[in-house]
Amino acid sequence: MKIGIDKIGFYAPHLYVDMNKLAVRRNVEPEKFTIGIGQEKMAVPPITQDSVTLAANAALEVLDENDKEAIDFVIFGTETGIDNSKSAAVYVHHLLGLNPHARTVEVKHACYGATAAIQMAKGHIALNPESKVLVLASDIARYGLNSSGEATQGAGAVGMVISADPAILALEDKSAYLADDVMDFWRPVYSDKALVDGKLSNEKYISFFAKVWEQYKEKTGRELKDFEAITFHLPYTKMGKKALKPVLEETTEDVQERLKANYQISTEYNRNVGNIYTGSLYLSLLSLLEQKEDLEAGARIGMFSYGSGAVGEFFTGILQDGYREHLKIKEHDELFASRKEVSVDEYEAIFEETLPTDGSSIELDVNSDPAQIYLAGVTDHMRRYVNKEK
Ligand code: HMG
Repeated sequence: MKIGIDKIGFYAPHLYVDMNKLAVRRNVEPEKFTIGIGQEKMAVPPITQDSVTLAANAALEVLDENDKEAIDFVIFGTETGIDNSKSAAVYVHHLLGLNPHARTVEVKHACYGATAAIQMAKGHIALNPESKVLVLASDIARYGLNSSGEATQGAGAVGMVISADPAILALEDKSAYLADDVMDFWRPVYSDKALVDGKLSNEKYISFFAKVWEQYKEKTGRELKDFEAITFHLPYTKMGKKALKPVLEETTEDVQERLKANYQISTEYNRNVGNIYTGSLYLSLLSLLEQKEDLEAGARIGMFSYGSGAVGEFFTGILQDGYREHLKIKEHDELFASRKEVSVDEYEAIFEETLPTDGSSIELDVNSDPAQIYLAGVTDHMRRYVNKEK
């Protein structure tokens, strides 16, 4: 039985800051951010968007009534959870009006959470072929104003329906994975900003890719030539390129050129959104599928998932006949075209505006947020979410 991605939706907040302008303000050459890091625009989440609303807006784009009935498992991968006990998945389950006979759970391992969710979903579908699983990948990446990681912030979510006989990508069974206790990036429970050893995180990312790729080859006998494209978790768009480069030496020039060209296409959306942590790999996959018009059904796509801390996994999927008809290309063009630029001053003010942490209530100004689902405020320690059309 084929199991894989049947639907894939995406949402990013409606605001962004231009990386050239951020660079000027930070007294660095713009090329450092646009070429050295590889980012053009960085999504800026208004206070009315959190990981729950971003995920709900992403899933909203793709779910129909049949999905809402068939989904009996919602798995929410995030490292920007809003509660230490209550799962973010159950909020989305309610906001989208899903079948009450469902399991809802939140999973965490830095940027690897959604990949863990997909593997769990696969097992669930293998046992229950009639059901569907909603996998959510949603995060807000915050390192701090003027911090070394600032240029690699971002916000957004991907929502995927995992099912039998998927319309888009059938996941293959063999994958390679690796775990090691590393302090490359983490966020203590008392902090709303991540701590990071940037150099170590880059080194670990590259070495994890090299190791899981070796293990994958041993397990399957496959080589680079068997791949139309390899997509990566993209904390910033130069990162995957650095990991891919040494491995490319294993293959012919033709294959190298193909993988490099397709890598470039797979970075397009990420370059304009920034790091969305657990959703970044899936945003890159989406970028490839939607922006490369001549990708043929039957093509094998590799996916490298990396979550600091650290876990890495290399897994693969085969594009299904007619997959393009199931993508939301027009909607995503519109989403990008309708975003509004904020100045660096405005971005800094939005960054500093946070929800109360002392238990006091707040009523948010929701009029400027065009999203269908948003956070309206906090009362008695409870976040109040609104779905405008429910
Ligand atoms: P930095 O120290 O500001 O930058 O930190 P740099 O000095 O290393 O320069 C970056 C690149 O720009 C270099 O290229 C420079 O040469 C180049 P490289 O040598 O790397 O190829 N450069 C220029 N290029 C063109 N024109 C110029 C110019 N000037 C410099 N004028 C760093 C960069 C990414 C480390 C920092 O932003 C950071 O710490 N970010 C957060 C951590 C991160 O993203 N790590 C990635 C791997 S870990 C991961 O992916 C997991 C993660 O997503 C979290 C999770 O799992 O949840 C982060």
